[in-house]
Amino acid sequence: MEWIILILGTIGHVGLWCVVFNRVHATAFPRKFRKFSEKAILVIVFAPLFWAFYLRIRIPGNTFADVISLPLITYYYYGSVGLGCLFVVRWLYRKLFLKLPTNVLASETKRLNLKRELNGPLLHGRLPKLLGLFPFNEALLLTLQRMTVELEMPAELDGLKICQLSDLHFTGEVDIRYFERVVEEANRFEPDLVVITGDLVDHAKCIEWIPKTFGKLNAPLGVYYVLGNHDRRIQSETFLRKNIHDSGLIQASSRWHEIEHKGATIQITGNALPWYRDAEQLPDQPDNKSGLSILLSHSPDQLAWARQRDFQLMFAGHTHGGQIAFPIIGPVVAPSKYGVGYSAGTFKFGKLTMHVSRGLSGDETIRWGSPPELGLFTLRSNQKHKTHPTP
Ligand SMILES: [Fe+2]
Repeated sequence: MEWIILILGTIGHVGLWCVVFNRVHATAFPRKFRKFSEKAILVIVFAPLFWAFYLRIRIPGNTFADVISLPLITYYYYGSVGLGCLFVVRWLYRKLFLKLPTNVLASETKRLNLKRELNGPLLHGRLPKLLGLFPFNEALLLTLQRMTVELEMPAELDGLKICQLSDLHFTGEVDIRYFERVVEEANRFEPDLVVITGDLVDHAKCIEWIPKTFGKLNAPLGVYYVLGNHDRRIQSETFLRKNIHDSGLIQASSRWHEIEHKGATIQITGNALPWYRDAEQLPDQPDNKSGLSILLSHSPDQLAWARQRDFQLMFAGHTHGGQIAFPIIGPVVAPSKYGVGYSAGTFKFGKLTMHVSRGLSGDETIRWGSPPELGLFTLRSNQKHKTHPTP
């Protein structure tokens, strides 16, 4: 029994500080503060565990009850046990009851091992190369995710194909050939529309990659994008946006775009809050009751914003699927106010369907259980089967 309580206490203690980590990283706090908080949280999480295990083993006959006998520590310990129970119940609920929404009619996954397929080294720098040697590292295992999704939208838009790219993180640590191949695969999907949901360029030296990668994306209805928190590392936002614009991409945020397609209207806008504040200046949403409204958001945290408006579809990224997802447990950290709740996958809320991409790369070139994702969404109209009443 002592061990069960100890395990629950450890789950509660680690889980509590994961919650703090996730919330801090969902904000626009300065990077220095977030980096400091990361180190502080690591110390807070591991120091008491090592200390408790050390005393338990060091003193013969000692139990954990003796180790935590100081009043304040006792309160914290039993509080952690309670929290641990809550985390286990929430985890069980998610495992047992949360399923793919019923409007996802089909889902198909294909994996491409680009580390094996592309000749020459794809990782540059000492740390990325070292991480690349880790067994089962999926950082270069590109997943082609094809989904068919039914939406409340006009029959004219039935069959519309949208490709999503997210979180490419051009740092120079992953070779440009990886991203060129991603673009090649995106074009092979032959999408009508391409959406990019933030974190395009981390390092200024990679701005010159934009025309060679994003500039090669083909879609008759356009390539729309929002920026993400990592794009703020480029000192001049104007310079970054000019390079993106010159490569033919359209900034989704700051206004409502309306595309006429087969007699129906596709409405698109973007939201990169809290890092870029364009969405706060948006005029009221034009009426598009008989069309399709799409939101590109860097973070799934803008879900409430989307639900207050009239969107049928929301694309997001930012969380990288937690980047490391443990077997059975799943991911434990994701920079979102929802924690790992919406770290990746498809979710439905009333008429709104949200897809959160695992993204294509990251700040660190390590992924376990969360391989990079390139998505293609074929939309089906729920109105195409409706028969009109005979006069
Ligand atoms: Fe990202």
